[in-house]
Amino acid sequence: MNGISPGVNEKEWTDDVTMSRRIVLASRPAGAPRPSDFRVEEVPVPRPQEGELLLRTIYLSLDPYVRGRLGYAHTYRSASPLLPLDEVLPGGTVCEVVDSGSPEFTEGDIVLADLGWQSAGVRSAATVRRLDPDVSPVSTALGVLGMPGFTAYVGLNLVGRPNPGETVVVAAATGPVGSMVGQLALLSGCRAVGIAGGPDKVAWLRDNGFAAALDHRSPAFADELAAAVPDGVDIYFENVGGRVLDAVLPHLNAGARVPVCGLVSEYNGTRPAAGPDRLPGMMSLILSRAITVQGFTFGPYTASHQQQFLDETAPAVREGRLRYREDIVDGLEAAPTAFIGLLGGANFGKQLVQVGPDPTR
Ligand SMILES: NC(=O)c1ccc[n+]([C@@H]2O[C@H](COP(=O)([O-])OP(=O)(O)OC[C@H]3O[C@@H](n4cnc5c(N)ncnc54)[C@H](OP(=O)(O)O)[C@@H]3O)[C@@H](O)[C@H]2O)c1
Repeated sequence: MNGISPGVNEKEWTDDVTMSRRIVLASRPAGAPRPSDFRVEEVPVPRPQEGELLLRTIYLSLDPYVRGRLGYAHTYRSASPLLPLDEVLPGGTVCEVVDSGSPEFTEGDIVLADLGWQSAGVRSAATVRRLDPDVSPVSTALGVLGMPGFTAYVGLNLVGRPNPGETVVVAAATGPVGSMVGQLALLSGCRAVGIAGGPDKVAWLRDNGFAAALDHRSPAFADELAAAVPDGVDIYFENVGGRVLDAVLPHLNAGARVPVCGLVSEYNGTRPAAGPDRLPGMMSLILSRAITVQGFTFGPYTASHQQQFLDETAPAVREGRLRYREDIVDGLEAAPTAFIGLLGGANFGKQLVQVGPDPTR
């Protein structure tokens, strides 16, 4: 029995979930991660005990914040501890219940869990949430209706506080956070300006109602941005930092709000790019134009606003009023390469890994 501890159920143990394939941190990346910073392992899975579930991973979410947990990166350092070497990479997952030690769940249930980069594992039933495939495709629980979508919702609505007619600028605008920010801004009666990398992404923004769509890789990007915001910028939803921030700053209006959600252009840096050179200019702008710059993470809003978010956005997603893209790669072993690509913009939409078959599709 592979040294697996006895579980609560006496039923036959299936071969495919007695072992889990998992990806662990092999070494700390300095700069951009490399495939050799990750290692694939196979380990036995314990049987679920009372109150626990044995889960099989269907979809794994790859997220930029994970870079901060790998080391030699300056962002998110205070919010999340460094991941120890040889530990499984963290990540949200959509899973199928394979064996249940909880009366609340039965085999075949689909749940949202935090299994990380592995094909199977055991979690307390209290830490998972049941998903209804009839409400929306289960993969959306990791993107448009999951943590990234919720982040966009609280960041725009509670931190940005949009008013009809205002101009909202967002970069990484085809990703799960940025695309939701732009579309929620449009639904609030704002003028949304999206920034993305490459012509296909820019075309997607134009097709989805953004008033202007810009490629941050264009040599004339700063001039193109100036032309796209003739009335200035009322909300700059900060996802990326770097060159985009530099280009947006001079256009911030009096009373502008800047929800600071992420700085992905700097995640592979070993020291802050937004150093002392930028700070005095920014501070003087913040003072003279009464600009509100507020960092936030989604976590503290979960208890108070997650249900409201789902009630409002799930029907809009179902009816096509909120659109989303997913970029799904096949097989757990593809995760490191897809994650490395995500940090540089190789993804087009929410980056997912299909780890196992999806019985709902
Ligand atoms: N505060 C929170 O609680 C919270 C929660 C979730 C996510 N976040 C943050 O939100 C941001 C977006 O996350 P996401 O999951 O939606 O990621 P995502 O958009 O799927 O992926 C990151 C994107 O960043 C863009 N990018 C990379 N390097 C860039 C650069 N040098 N300049 C401009 N853009 C660059 C790329 O898009 P292009 O090809 O279009 O450039 C890339 O696709 C990230 O900063 C993330 O850390 C924060």
